[in-house]
Amino acid sequence: MIELGKKVVVTGVPGVGKTTVINGAMERLAAEDIAYKAVNFGTFMFEVAQKENLAADRDEMRRLDKAVQKRLQQAAASGIAAMSGDANIIVDTHSSVKTPAGFLAGLPEWVLRELMPDIVVLVETDPDQILMRRLSDASRTRDMEGSRAIAEHQEFNRAVSAAYAMYSGCTVRIVRNENFLLEQGIDDLVSVLR
Ligand code: AP5
Repeated sequence: MIELGKKVVVTGVPGVGKTTVINGAMERLAAEDIAYKAVNFGTFMFEVAQKENLAADRDEMRRLDKAVQKRLQQAAASGIAAMSGDANIIVDTHSSVKTPAGFLAGLPEWVLRELMPDIVVLVETDPDQILMRRLSDASRTRDMEGSRAIAEHQEFNRAVSAAYAMYSGCTVRIVRNENFLLEQGIDDLVSVLR
């Protein structure tokens, strides 16, 4: 029997620290000789957006017309599915994206069908901590919103992830990434990936 790789989708609101936790987990797993490919869904979308002169930076993508975002999503999902094969893979993405027209599902049916994840991880922490991380990250053009709006986005992400579980049969796991407790968040993600 062919053993298929594990497909883990890691999500969380912008600035919660998904990429930081993923990088920490990858380092730990490499030391244990457990191989994972980590891919960033936004990077796949941005490559297409850049080629078509649609966005100057990745933060501009969530303000594009909904139909364009969906097309970029589809292109990213097919690209990732084509390169992942039977390898263990981590997809760094968003359960939902906050657009001017409302929340856009990050893993709609046409994306889930391509990725078919085993697990969707929601990285979360207190909204005040996320707000402070966004304010201190000068490298990005983060949306300016308050703690209440960030809390609402995290709630929406839990709700929409339940729909992903219903559709694909994946499990949903919450990993906390608290200030001063990054190592604990990494431990939790490693336990999901092993
Ligand atoms: P994307 O590329 O996913 O954004 P990103 O760069 O990955 O990262 P985020 O902005 O979400 O931040 P992060 O959570 O990774 O935090 P980080 O580790 O950097 O998305 C770009 C765009 O692509 C989206 O806006 C969207 O338009 C599009 N897109 C992506 N997926 C899509 C999809 N499925 N459908 C449609 N569109 C999609 O950390 C942030 C800061 O916090 C850092 O300074 C870090 O040092 C700090 N920090 C982290 N952890 C801790 C801690 N424990 N304590 C203290 N500080 C911490």
